[in-house]
Amino acid sequence: MRRRVIAGNWKMFKVLSETRAFFSAFLPMVANAKHCDIVIAPPFTAISAAVQSAKGSNVAISGQDVFWEEEGAFTGEISAPMLADAGCRFVIIGHSERRQFFGETDESVAKKTKTALAAGLTPVVCVGETLAQRETGQTKSVLQKQFLSAPGSLTPEEFSRILLAYEPVWAIGTGKTATPETAADAHRVLRQCAAQRFSAAHASALRILYGGSVKPDNIKGLMAQEELDGALVGGASLDPKWFAAIVNTK
Ligand code: PGA
Repeated sequence: MRRRVIAGNWKMFKVLSETRAFFSAFLPMVANAKHCDIVIAPPFTAISAAVQSAKGSNVAISGQDVFWEEEGAFTGEISAPMLADAGCRFVIIGHSERRQFFGETDESVAKKTKTALAAGLTPVVCVGETLAQRETGQTKSVLQKQFLSAPGSLTPEEFSRILLAYEPVWAIGTGKTATPETAADAHRVLRQCAAQRFSAAHASALRILYGGSVKPDNIKGLMAQEELDGALVGGASLDPKWFAAIVNTK
């Protein structure tokens, strides 16, 4: 049995006061949630406040991105040791918005994943096809390529410490959720890649989250699929009641 992970990605939302208000409302609502790991990725400026607010709770904090060097003259970047030092335990890498707007490539995803692991963070590595790729029948090959070039470049030991997130680009922020079956098909492709590149044991231990318009009213159907080990939630993670409802749905 793989333990479920429900992760919220706040993207570029919430200042400090909103971060503190979120945690005061959210933590009591999920205090009894023992069936899953809960992760929240605030913007960099709110990480310290989030770590402080979540201290002693069952909620872990994540970065939304990281740079691949440990330190140096890289204006504007944040390193993995900085995230770990600020109290993060996770970091999202290769989100499609980074790929689409900020030049993230499979190669940079691979480098970032390795530095994150070296700093003791758990990377949540995102993959997923665009609408055009899905419509032209390329979903499987795109996922295979994304898998092989980043997660596939890790050692077996490193690989056992990452989480994957399958996020079809056409489902992110669009209100179009993949059907549970469509998501499960993609997860199967990724798990098969893990079996081929690493081992059957690695594949069956790998936790793959689904992301893309996850809401309180569709989480149950998604989680009913054995292939789906959790969710990466954008918009619906901004509201404490909504996100708690997603966490608390078994
Ligand atoms: P969404 O975002 O839930 O708002 O679609 C998901 C994500 O980008 O991780």
